[in-house]
Formats: sequence, structure tokens, C-alpha cells
Amino acid sequence: MAVIALKCPSIEVVVVDISKSRIAAWNSDKLPIYEPGLDDVVKKCRGKNLFFSTEVEKHVYEADIVFVSVNTPTKTRGLGAGKAADLTYWENAARMIADVSKSDKIVVEKSTVPVKTAEAIEKIMTHNAKSIKFQILSNPEFLAEGTAIQDLFNPDRVLIGGRETPEGEKAIQTLKSVYSQWIPEGKILTTNLWSAELSKLAANAFLAQRISSVNALSALCEGTGANVNQVSYAVGTDTRIGPKFLNASVGFGGSCFQKDILNLVYICECNGLPEVAEYWKQVIKINDYQKSRFVNRVVASMFNTVANKKIAILGFAFKKDTGDTRETPAIDVCKGLLGDKARVSIFDPQVTEDQIQRDLWMNKFDWDHPIHLQPTSTPSNEKNVSVVWDAYEATKDADGVCILTEWDEFKKLDYQKIYDNMRKPAFVFDGRNVVDCDKLREIGFIVYSIGKPLDPWLKDMPAVA
Ligand code: UDX
Repeated sequence: MAVIALKCPSIEVVVVDISKSRIAAWNSDKLPIYEPGLDDVVKKCRGKNLFFSTEVEKHVYEADIVFVSVNTPTKTRGLGAGKAADLTYWENAARMIADVSKSDKIVVEKSTVPVKTAEAIEKIMTHNAKSIKFQILSNPEFLAEGTAIQDLFNPDRVLIGGRETPEGEKAIQTLKSVYSQWIPEGKILTTNLWSAELSKLAANAFLAQRISSVNALSALCEGTGANVNQVSYAVGTDTRIGPKFLNASVGFGGSCFQKDILNLVYICECNGLPEVAEYWKQVIKINDYQKSRFVNRVVASMFNTVANKKIAILGFAFKKDTGDTRETPAIDVCKGLLGDKARVSIFDPQVTEDQIQRDLWMNKFDWDHPIHLQPTSTPSNEKNVSVVWDAYEATKDADGVCILTEWDEFKKLDYQKIYDNMRKPAFVFDGRNVVDCDKLREIGFIVYSIGKPLDPWLKDMPAVA
């Protein structure tokens, strides 16, 4: 919304939320999320044509176009538990919009939602809306965190789905006229509602599938002595495949990939397509396998036990340049190590201690509910978890170091100093292929790097998931 305000000075944008503290943060000097370039954009427009407010109903009443980006958590109980999206918040938003509206509106589905949600929303709105006309559009967002502003300034495409009626077409054109103020015509794709909704799930499923494919190969590389970097480079030079998104890792995380694939799986099952559901489910299974394979490597290398050993965790965010920890592989890796009674000392340049502690005891899928609806309890492993603000502090007297996020600063650390302050033998487990293995081995480390030829030490200590 901030980018729309920046690129369209004649449009007034009001971002509304029921959370007072969140809106206060958006109105302050310290924005509630870390995203490179966002501060600048907000500063340029806030108070001019960009506003943040808790007066939800007033601003919805005044708006011509309402973008809805409420949470759509994975259901944890009832029909479709563990897979289907819980649309409670969406339904409440739709009812509220219908209640307060006194003029025709375009309602834009911005949260990623399962196919055919727009139809359900349309029903709720038209049955509650007296004589007012609503047009529902689906306008899925493809930005990635850490590069959000650049992705919005220069997207590969903008997708707008709507009803194939004259009114639907008119609504599509209205939204198109917003984006066309900075995005070339040819990059704005228009489709029917269902295609737009399904395209978002499909794009994320394809992206996640690439990572699971290269991660599956990384296990085979370790087994055979191939180097996954060389393999993915060779594969990616085929122009039909392309070089991006082929980095082997400890696993993908983030708020979208797993959730969207689970939704896709559920939709396949509901449509009587169990084989197709099983096909996509495998992308998640390989991701889980990759995380437990990593933990097993750590435990097996350290004489089959990490009990009471200090393990430094460098990086907790699900990728670099963000403080976001939703579904980060670091959660499962830390839980695995804590399950084996390790002491973990965590450093991430952008994630707070409070967030890490909450992530380590929260139930699966809890993160997607508003914070005041998340269960409160005390972390059981708390005494074995410490969060520190410096990589050297985290690694001091540690037996092993796990690199779980590819922050640039981890490449530039003084590994000689780290080695000197660690217990011996000193291990580095690189879950993101960021360190120079040869240099670290020269210093004296035993190094494991995903999908790379194994250290002789590790060859003698095989780990199976
Ligand atoms: C993703 C999609 O890219 C975006 O289009 C969509 O709108 C939202 O979901 P995001 O979750 O922000 O974006 O991050 P992304 O860059 O896609 O990374 C997801 C995960 O995959 C991260 O944990 C990342 O580290 C991992 N990843 C990515 C790999 O392990 N290897 C790769 O080669 C690329």
C-alpha cells in the first residue's frame, strides 16, 4: 500500500488495523517490520496520501476500493485440519464491509486464499448488502520478503482476476489503472477469478518444488561425492530451467510455501484427485526430511549425542534481510537439538529474544493468528536456550556452530577467532552454503556443508533421517 501511495500521488491510501499498537508503530519512527527500503517509501508519503488508522469502519465506508489482507491461518481443528485455510477473519471482514458500506465498492482479495474464496465472499457480501453492488477481484501478491520494495517497483507481473461480466471487466480496468501508473501494460495480466487465485498457489508450489528438488539432490551429492553447487549451476544453465532458486539449503521456510502447498493438497483431495495431492505433498515431505537430516548430521558427527553440549545457532530468520521467523527451518532444527538435550545459543541480527522464545514453544500454525489470540504458556526448554546479540558471544565455548540463515555478515566473521574460543574438536554445520569450507578446514574446523563432498570425519559417522 505504501508503494501504491508513492507511485499514485492522486490516490489516498489508508491502512487500517484493529491493533492499536501496530498502527501506532506504523505512525512512529520505528516501523513494526524490517524491510530494506520500506522506511524511505513510508517517510515520503506518510501524512500526505498515506495514512495508518484504527478507525476501520470509517475508512472502509469512505473507500472506493478495499484491499483485504487479513490472516488466513491453517485450520488446526475440524474439517481439513492441518491443511485447509481458516477463513474466519476473511468472513468477518467481508461482513463488516457489507455492514458499513453505503456506496458501490471494489473489494480486492490480497491475502493468498484457496481457490473459490472470492465466490464465497461474493455470496456473503451480496446477501448482506441491501442494494449496494460489490465487485470482487483477486489480485495476488508475488513479492518476496527482503526484496519487497524492489519487487513492487519492478514486478515480473501483476495479476488481476475478476468476473467475466461487463461490471467485472470495469472493476478490473479500474484496478489496472492504479498499477499502470508505474507498471508497463504488458506486465499486467487479467484472468478470471479462479485462475488468479490458483496461479498464486501454483507459483509458490513450483518455487518450493525447485528447492525440494535441489535439496533431494543434495542428499545424493553427499552420498556420492558430487558437489551440489556444481550440479545446480550445470542444471541451471539450461535456459529452459534457469539459474534462480536452485540453492540447496537446510530447508525452505516463510509464511507462504508450506501453507500454500497444504492448501493446494487439500483442494486436490476435495476435487477427488488423491494422486495429484500426493505429488505436491512430497515437496513438503522432502523439506521436513532435509531439516531432520541436518539435525541428524549434527548429532551423529558429535559422537551421537549433543546432550549438554553448547551449539551456537547463527541466523534464525527464514532468510536473510528479514526479521521474519514464520516457518523458519531454524525452529525445527533448534527443537531437534533441544530434544537431544543440547544447549543452544542463538544469534540473529534482526530477530528479538522474545520472538525466538515464542517460536520455540508455539504450536504449529499458531503464528498465523493475531498475537492476542495466540496461546500463552512458558517455554519448557527455556533454560537450554539463550539468545545473544553477537556471533562471537554465541560461539564462545561452543562445541559446534550451525549456520541457519545466509546473512552476509556470516561470510565475513573472523573464523580463526571463533575457532580459538571454541571447545575442540570444533564443528561448523553450514545449512546455507555460505562459508569457505577449505579455509575453515585449514583453521582446524570439522565442516559439514549441505550437498558438498563430506569431510572424512563425517564419512565415518553416517547419519540417516
Ligand atoms: C515467497 C515467494 O517467492 C513469493 O513470490 C510469494 O509472494 C511469497 O512467498 P518469501 O516467502 O518471502 O516469498 O521468500 P523466498 O525468497 O521465496 O524464500 C522462501 C524460502 O526458500 C526461504 O527460506 C529461502 O531461504 C528458501 N530458498 C530460496 C532456498 O532454500 N533456496 C533457494 O534457492 C531459494
